[in-house]
Amino acid sequence: MAKILVVYGTTEGHTAGIAQRIGAVMRDVGHEVHVRDSGDLRKATLEHAYDGVVVGGSVHAGEHQRSVREFVRQHRDLLDRVPSAFFSVSLTAAEPDEDARRDVQAVVDRFVQETGWQPRHVEPIAGALVYSQYNIFVRHVMKLIAKSHGRSTDTSQDRDYTDWEAVERFARAFAGELGGSPERAGGSAPSPGSGRRDEPDAAGADG
Ligand SMILES: Cc1cc2nc3c(=O)[nH]c(=O)nc-3n(C[C@H](O)[C@H](O)[C@H](O)COP(=O)(O)O)c2cc1C
Repeated sequence: MAKILVVYGTTEGHTAGIAQRIGAVMRDVGHEVHVRDSGDLRKATLEHAYDGVVVGGSVHAGEHQRSVREFVRQHRDLLDRVPSAFFSVSLTAAEPDEDARRDVQAVVDRFVQETGWQPRHVEPIAGALVYSQYNIFVRHVMKLIAKSHGRSTDTSQDRDYTDWEAVERFARAFAGELGGSPERAGGSAPSPGSGRRDEPDAAGADG
């Protein structure tokens, strides 16, 4: 059994749910997993020696959260020493075309350039439109962006574009790199949407 850290940055909470899902899958494989918000880890010393680290963040105005970049810069040694992976959540990742793939890659490339960390694996993940959480200005802007991408402009409903099965595959592949019992995976991960931001961290003993 390995000890794995999953660190995420989130602005509206969707990436927190993805991080919790990744953690749940890897626990199901038999690993000990700690899921942490990068904002809570600012300048913190990690309390455990980790065997693997997954880092993720969502894209807003072309950038991942500053706290994610800070975490990576602060813990570059660890990220270079143990198996590590990065996931990037955005609406662009929901687009199937080649232009969108290039845009996603450009945002990831900027993250790599700014942090100096070249993750061995990068997983682009389609995010969500959560109109219910936007203020009036952001709702208007997001409606325009959604329209230009052929996405839902019905602001009375939130939209989840995340491919949760792909998220679970990513988590199982990473968990597999660190050993564990792959045959146990896939059985008891929570259903889509259940990994909300306020879901208690099952590893919670260390805060
Ligand atoms: C103000 C704002 C700006 C955004 N900018 C981008 C962007 O530049 N590129 C993109 O692909 N998605 C963009 N998104 C979409 C988010 O990446 C997506 O909603 C994601 O699910 C947010 O995850 P979070 O809830 O964890 O922050 C933006 C969303 C908002 C609300």
